Amino acid sequence: DIKGFVFDLDGVITVTSIYHSKAWHQIADEVGTKWSDKLANSLKGVDRVHSLARILKAGGKETAYTDQQKKDLMDKKNHLYLQYVDKMGSDEILPGIKSFLADLKRHHYAISLASSSRNSPKVLKKLNLTSYFGKVVDPATLKHGKPDPEIYAKGAKILNLDPRRCIGIEDAVVGVQSINAAGETSIGIGDSKVLHEADMVFPDTSKLTLANIKKHMDQ
Ligand code: BG6
Ligand code: MG
Repeated sequence: DIKGFVFDLDGVITVTSIYHSKAWHQIADEVGTKWSDKLANSLKGVDRVHSLARILKAGGKETAYTDQQKKDLMDKKNHLYLQYVDKMGSDEILPGIKSFLADLKRHHYAISLASSSRNSPKVLKKLNLTSYFGKVVDPATLKHGKPDPEIYAKGAKILNLDPRRCIGIEDAVVGVQSINAAGETSIGIGDSKVLHEADMVFPDTSKLTLANIKKHMDQ
């Protein structure tokens, strides 16, 4: 029986994956890496350090920047990203998420957050969703980022739940892989071809309901 839900944030609860992309796009332009949908997709769910590494690699610039310059680029990206976040409000919550969270609460499911983003407390506050997420994995405490299972394993642990009693929800391929490796049931939000490793995929968050999940699990 499922007892808990472990959520990704960017691209599942809110539109911020777009803002991350826009900010990284600007950094890619600055370092001379050609931006593409493929590159953008490969950054989804990936932490700051590894996102920059991928952008530099895509432009053949792995060794062109010092550690200090890389730090400055990451700070710049975060500054650009936070300019978008500052303007956010609860209308940036993705369709159906608010009622899904309320439904989970009503049915006494445990809820935690497993986002790679260090900005998630700020984003939750902007969305007025902090009250749902008393349990948040702090990505600063992790040894390994997604697709490693560590973050989703912690998402279950902070709920005192066996991972097998949890469902993880993700929009990123590496996120689905992390959920699966942690031994949880995975829900992908997005393109079922891209997220084919997920136990079930919904095209968008409006389809994310307890009824639809139960339907899938009974199949
Ligand atoms: C993930 C996003 O949730 O967090 C990535 O999908 C982002 O795009 C990563 O790079 C790290 O976020 P932050 O806010 O700590 O730089
Ligand atoms: Mg995401």
